[in-house]
Amino acid sequence: MTKKRVAVLISGRGSNMMALIEAAKAKDYPAEIVLVLSNRPGAAGLGRAHQAGIATVVIDYRPFGEDRRAFEQALDDELRWHRVDLVCLAGFLRLLTSWFIARWRGQILNIHPALLPQFKGLHTHRRALDAGAKQHGATVHFVVEKTDSGPIIAQESVPVLPSDTEETLAARVLQIEHRIYPEALRMVADGRATFSPSRDPAGAR
Ligand code: GRF
Repeated sequence: MTKKRVAVLISGRGSNMMALIEAAKAKDYPAEIVLVLSNRPGAAGLGRAHQAGIATVVIDYRPFGEDRRAFEQALDDELRWHRVDLVCLAGFLRLLTSWFIARWRGQILNIHPALLPQFKGLHTHRRALDAGAKQHGATVHFVVEKTDSGPIIAQESVPVLPSDTEETLAARVLQIEHRIYPEALRMVADGRATFSPSRDPAGAR
């Protein structure tokens, strides 16, 4: 079995990144994590990845200023240097341009802490509570130009309890995230889940 080479892109603590690293230790897992890349030098996940023996790279977005294309060119160069097949966004707080997404079409996965298409964007737990949602959850999807709108690979729900705060709900959802992200990556890496442009809601552009 030729394992898919995966880069995980982070900006923060990297708990989903760790879930992917742990899962990829299994002999029969069809993907290996070859690179963890952060756009923030201080991301806590960098230390965790380093401890796990994974190559880490920082591409600080700040010197690039408004030049997102130059930032993404550097990102692209790094991914190609490491011969990456698949890119997993895991708390990567940088919107990607259509240039980058087109270059990696069907090869970028993202985890979103909500049951898409509900609650796209930020502050999903607060918004789910405010909306009185009875169910909440997490979704892994392919990345397309439109934020949080690509074809869904895996999704799982959790109940919202009357006593929930933003923190307790986030913690319950995070447990789900750590389970479905490795499972979704497995499905993409072994070819059970494929990106189909006809399922790409942005494909009609
Ligand atoms: C997760 O909740 C993920 O769904 C969202 O950002 C958070 C990242 O957490 N995209 P972590 O860095 O993986 O711990």
